Amino acid sequence: MACGIIGVTARKSHGASSRIAEIVKKGLEKLEYRGYDSVGVAAIYDNKIVVRKGKGKISEVNRRVKLDKVLGWTVVGHTRWATHGAPSDVNAHPHIDCNGRIAVVHNGIIQNYVELKKELIAKGHRFRSETDTEVLAHLIEEYLKEGNEVFQAFKRALRRVKGSYAFGVIVVDEPDKIFFARRDSPLVIGVGEGMNFIASDIPAFLEHTRNVIIVYDGEVGFITSDSIYLEDESGVPIDVKARIRKIDWTPDMAKKEGYPHFMIKEIHEQPRALRDTFRGLDESVEKASELILEARRVYFVAAGTSYHACLVGDYLLNVLAGIPSLSMISSEYKKYRKSIGEGDVVIAVSQSGETIDTLMAIRVFKENGARVVSISNVVDSAIPRESHYTIYTRAGPEIGVAATKTFTTQLLVLSWLSLAVAEKMGKLGKGEAEKLRRELERTPSLVSDIIARYEGVTKKLGEELVNSSNAFYLGRGIGLPIAMEGALKLKEIAYIHAEAYPAGESKHGPIALVEPGFPVIFLVFEDEWKRHMLGNIEEMKARGAYAIGVIPEESDFIEERLDKAIVIPKLEPIVGTIVYSVPLQLIAYYAAVAKGYDPDKPRNLAKTVTVE
Ligand code: M6R
Repeated sequence: MACGIIGVTARKSHGASSRIAEIVKKGLEKLEYRGYDSVGVAAIYDNKIVVRKGKGKISEVNRRVKLDKVLGWTVVGHTRWATHGAPSDVNAHPHIDCNGRIAVVHNGIIQNYVELKKELIAKGHRFRSETDTEVLAHLIEEYLKEGNEVFQAFKRALRRVKGSYAFGVIVVDEPDKIFFARRDSPLVIGVGEGMNFIASDIPAFLEHTRNVIIVYDGEVGFITSDSIYLEDESGVPIDVKARIRKIDWTPDMAKKEGYPHFMIKEIHEQPRALRDTFRGLDESVEKASELILEARRVYFVAAGTSYHACLVGDYLLNVLAGIPSLSMISSEYKKYRKSIGEGDVVIAVSQSGETIDTLMAIRVFKENGARVVSISNVVDSAIPRESHYTIYTRAGPEIGVAATKTFTTQLLVLSWLSLAVAEKMGKLGKGEAEKLRRELERTPSLVSDIIARYEGVTKKLGEELVNSSNAFYLGRGIGLPIAMEGALKLKEIAYIHAEAYPAGESKHGPIALVEPGFPVIFLVFEDEWKRHMLGNIEEMKARGAYAIGVIPEESDFIEERLDKAIVIPKLEPIVGTIVYSVPLQLIAYYAAVAKGYDPDKPRNLAKTVTVE
C-alpha cells in the first residue's frame, strides 16, 4: 500500500551527530500513518553504514534498538507497510548491498524484482531479505564495481527497475549526499538552513522548514546539507530555486495539540477546515463549472471515502442540474476505458492526490481525450499535476488514517461546484442557488454545535457498539453515501463489520440478518424520503433491531420509534451531508477507543495507497 521514507543530511555545525537520527525518528513518527508494521534507519558515520531496524511500531522498535541514537549527519529512515515479504526484522528497511556500503529506503513496488534478483544472485550477490527493495542496493553495487560514479550507478540501476518508487539512497563513498528518485510514489524535498530533507510527505520535516520542492515523476537527484541537485528524466538539470514553494501549513497542524489522537483532533478541526476551504472557492469552481458545461458526459472517479464524496457530487449534479453523471470506483476504471474519452469530463477526487488507482484511471481517460478536473487536499500532488484543472480543499494535513475533515471539505467543494453548474444551466434560479450557498456557509458553526452537543452522546453510542460484531447504516437519496461513509469509518477503525444499504433495498435481503439487538443506524434527512425512512425503521424494529437515528428536529413521530436519536437542526440536504457525517465519525472514533484500538493507525491500512 504505502510506506514512508525520509532522509536528512546536515552540516556538522548542526550539533551532535546523534541529533540527525532524532530528527529522522520524529519525521518517521509523522509518516507512521503511511505504514507501521516495521521501521528502520541507516546512517553514515566514520566511513561505515550503521543500520538499526525492526518489526513493530516506531516506539516499540526505538525502545529495542534506539533508532534515535544512531550517529551521523547523513541519515535515512523508513516506516513500512509490507508488500513483498512479511513484516519482520530482516524485511524492515533500510536494505543494504553485500558489503554494507549502500543503504536504500523505498516506497513502492519493483515489479521485475524476481528477474533482477536471479540475475544478481548468479553474479554472486547475497540477499538477506525477501523484499523487492533489496535488489536496488545490489544493482547499485554492481554498477559501482564497473567503475561508475555513485550518481551514475544509481541512475543505471534505476533504468533496470520497473514499477513504482520513491527511493532514498546513501553510499559510504559520498557520505554527505542522499540520492533520490521518484516514479508514481510521492516524494518531496525540504529546503532547510544547512540541512536538507527528502520525505514522502511534508509533515515529516515541517518543524524545520516550510520551503518545499515537489519531486515529479521521472526526476532524480541528490541533496547535501547546502545544495540540491535535480534533473529530469532525460538528464536535463532543473533550476531548483524556481521550483521552491513556501507552504502555508504550520508545524502545529501536524501535532496532536493535546488531543489523544489525530483523528479526534481532525474531527474537531472541521469548522476551521470548512472555513478555510471557502477561501477562493467561487473562482476555483468557476473554471471547473465551465468545463462541466461544455462536457458531453460527466464522470466521477475515486477510492474509499473520496468515492463517497463523489457519490454526493454525482447525486447533486443529477438532481440540481439534471446532468446524468456517473461515479466509478477508481480501481474499476477499466470498465470505462473504451467508453470515456473526447468530450467527456472526469472529476477525480483524492485527498492525498497520490492514490495510484485514481491516478491510473485519469491517465487512461486523459489519453483518450477526456478533460480531468481534480479535487485534492495536497497542492501539486500527482493527481492535480496530471489534471487539466484542480480545486483544492484547504483542510490542512490529515494524519489520521481515517479521512474526516478531508471528506467534509470535499463535500463542500462538490456542493459549491454543483450549485454553480445548476445555476449556469438555468436549473436553479439565482436566488435559489444563492440561498443554498448561504446555508452552506453555516456549516462551520453547525458542525461546531453538533460536536459540542453530541460528543458525549456519540461516545456512549460508540461504547455500546463494541458489543456488536455487525451493524447496518441505512439512508436514501443523498443520505446513502453518508451512510456508506459512516459504515466505512466503523469498519476501518473499530473493526466492526458494518454495511450501508439504500434503506429501500434493505428488505430485499439484508433484513434477514437482523435479530434482536442488531444495531441499525438510520440517516433521516429533511427531504422527500423522510416518511419512507419511517417505514424502514418500523420494518427493522419489528425484527428487534436496536434503532439509532440521526434525524431532523421536529420529527417526533420518528424519534419516538428510535432507541437513540441524534437530533440535528432542519437542514437543506446539501448542508445535511456535511453535518450528518460528523456524529458518524465520532461514533466510530469512540467505538475504536473503547475497544482499545489506535484509531490513527488501523491494522492493515495505510493513509495513501500507492500500490495498484
Ligand atoms: O487520498 P485519497 O482520497 O485518494 O484516498 C482514498 C482512500 O484510500 C481513502 O479515502 C481511504 O478509504 C481512507 N481509509 C478512508 O478513511
